[in-house]
Amino acid sequence: MSELPNALSVREADRPVEPLFLQRWSPRAMSGEALAEEELMRLFEAARWAPSTYNEQEWRFLYARRQTPHWDAFFGLLAEPNQAWCGKAAVLGVVLSKKTFTRNGKPNPVHTFDSGLAYQNLSLQGAAMGLVVHGMAGFDFDKARRELNVPEDFAVEAMFAVGRHGDPADLPEELREREEPSGRKPVGEIVCEGPFAF
Ligand SMILES: Cc1cc2nc3c(=O)[nH]c(=O)nc-3n(C[C@H](O)[C@H](O)[C@H](O)COP(=O)(O)O)c2cc1C
Repeated sequence: MSELPNALSVREADRPVEPLFLQRWSPRAMSGEALAEEELMRLFEAARWAPSTYNEQEWRFLYARRQTPHWDAFFGLLAEPNQAWCGKAAVLGVVLSKKTFTRNGKPNPVHTFDSGLAYQNLSLQGAAMGLVVHGMAGFDFDKARRELNVPEDFAVEAMFAVGRHGDPADLPEELREREEPSGRKPVGEIVCEGPFAF
């Protein structure tokens, strides 16, 4: 097992922000070591405290630990490029969101947005704990719904891998080269005062 490389040695913000935002990144190298139940629950605890419309808390998480009976069903959802590095994850997760309000059954226009906030809490908590947390859209969404019995009223949003950092040398070559914290667009490219003028 190797320590999660500290992205702060590579990334520099243009303005002062909390270091955790820069520390979080998405490595792929994992060691295969299991996580303690309490470590995993700390991630979901962080997710729990995300804000949401009307405090709806529409996020739901399904997960499977490696070397348990549920693992194959979750691993089998992943696109091949993700299977190439997820074999040593400790946990694979699926993020769901409830599409309608519990209070009145009406469509909730921000269910996806809210579940993303919860996932970000989870990933920041993981970064603070020195864990790999890596989001994925590269999987079969329909198959996830079918095989994991997700009801129609819930959207399948994303998957993620969690694990302890491993040796990048074990990754396929093209992934090894990409195993470093990425940069970002400058604020001036993503923010506009007034109407849309990008
Ligand atoms: C919703 C979502 C889906 C993603 N899908 C994949 C994926 O399928 N495979 C992958 O290797 N990385 C995936 N990523 C990781 C992104 O490529 C990564 O977050 C982005 O390049 C920024 O890098 P950083 O997270 O290291 O800061 C995904 C991230 C998010 C948030």
